[in-house]
Amino acid sequence: MHMKFIIKFGVVLLFVVVAMRLEIFAGQKQQTESQKASTEGMKLDTGKEIFEAACIGCHGPGGRGQPESILGFEKPDTFPDFSDCNGSTREKTFDWRATIHEGGSHRGFSEIMPSWADALSSEQIDKVVGYLRTLCSEPGWPFGELNFPRAIMTEKAFPEDEWTLTGAVKGSRPRSDSGELIYEKRLGPKSQLELAAPYSFHQRANNGWVGGIGDLIAGYKRVLVFNNNTGSILSAQGSIALPTGNKTKELGSGVTTFETFGAFGQKLPGLSFLQIQGGAELPTDTTKADRVGFLRVAVGKTFAQNSGFGRAWTPIVEFLGERDLVTGAKTDWDIVPEVQITLNKRQHIRASIGVQTPMNNRDGRSTSAVFYVLWDWFDGGLKAGW
Ligand code: HEC
Repeated sequence: MHMKFIIKFGVVLLFVVVAMRLEIFAGQKQQTESQKASTEGMKLDTGKEIFEAACIGCHGPGGRGQPESILGFEKPDTFPDFSDCNGSTREKTFDWRATIHEGGSHRGFSEIMPSWADALSSEQIDKVVGYLRTLCSEPGWPFGELNFPRAIMTEKAFPEDEWTLTGAVKGSRPRSDSGELIYEKRLGPKSQLELAAPYSFHQRANNGWVGGIGDLIAGYKRVLVFNNNTGSILSAQGSIALPTGNKTKELGSGVTTFETFGAFGQKLPGLSFLQIQGGAELPTDTTKADRVGFLRVAVGKTFAQNSGFGRAWTPIVEFLGERDLVTGAKTDWDIVPEVQITLNKRQHIRASIGVQTPMNNRDGRSTSAVFYVLWDWFDGGLKAGW
């Protein structure tokens, strides 16, 4: 199997997609007169006043949306109900500001949502976003601000609706490619189900490749505490990996393994963040596999093009520590510099690429190229918002 070719092809394809998006991006920003919104002669001091003057015509009282009979247009599937906590709390203030300032089409939404760049000042946009934030009346929902960009290795604390394909490609012999296809489904304000299918391909001594699907994993995440004001979130997750992989093909551990971890995220000034994940893998039979403890730390910052309204680039550095939980074992440390890029206008499809390098105990441990592609499916289909 020509794994090397497939991987090279994948990387080239990724760059082509990114380059194409950048190209289109450079020529944007025309808006017709009719798409520009006006607020002339209106009283616009508080967020509520701004909303009632400028937004209520479409978004309705309490942000619940006007009926189509009043609107006179068909509502897009993604038309928001700001009083629906499940839909509205997960959005970032940052993204709402971009949609309001630049108009819907700029973020891959309907062009019926006008640009308010000329009609409202940036303070007024902040005020109306502040008002939108009050429309979910149930407490207990963490805001999208606590949903930090995903690092490649460090799991996040925020409950997600996402598909992610991760990979790690080892360049030196014996070569290997491994990763996971992960499905995440949010359950209510604080919980999330996770299913993962790890895959692995490795080169044998005769240069042939062997591989397939490893031990299937099911997990449950729960937010323990969060604070929307301080920008902090702490979650715990428990998972079980079943020995479904074929051990003769070196797939899976051959033993049922529990994994448990805590994940913490903290917002830092200027769209930067810190994420920490610490836990252990606990095989039910330690004669077959060792218990392993791990600590992962990710620090990053988002930069958005076009005065903060466009494509987002998030450089992240991760530090990964891992140690067999037996006396005398050493801790292996790796460093992973990486960058996450939003691929489409709606920013719900993203990719990240990085390089994982051992910092100590280098014997038998080599550098890998690591990556993922993710799709936040709650925000729309794979083809939506380009
Ligand atoms: C002419 C009708 C109209 C007016 C007026 C209007 N909007 Fe919208 N807005 C829409 C439509 C339609 C969408 C949905 C676009 C889509 O999902 O494709 C939308 C979407 C949005 C979104 C994106 C929500 C999300 O899910 O990310 C925000 C935020 C928003 N509007 C805020 C406002 C604010 C604030 C105002 C007033 C300053 C306003 N809108 C005025 C029609 C309007």
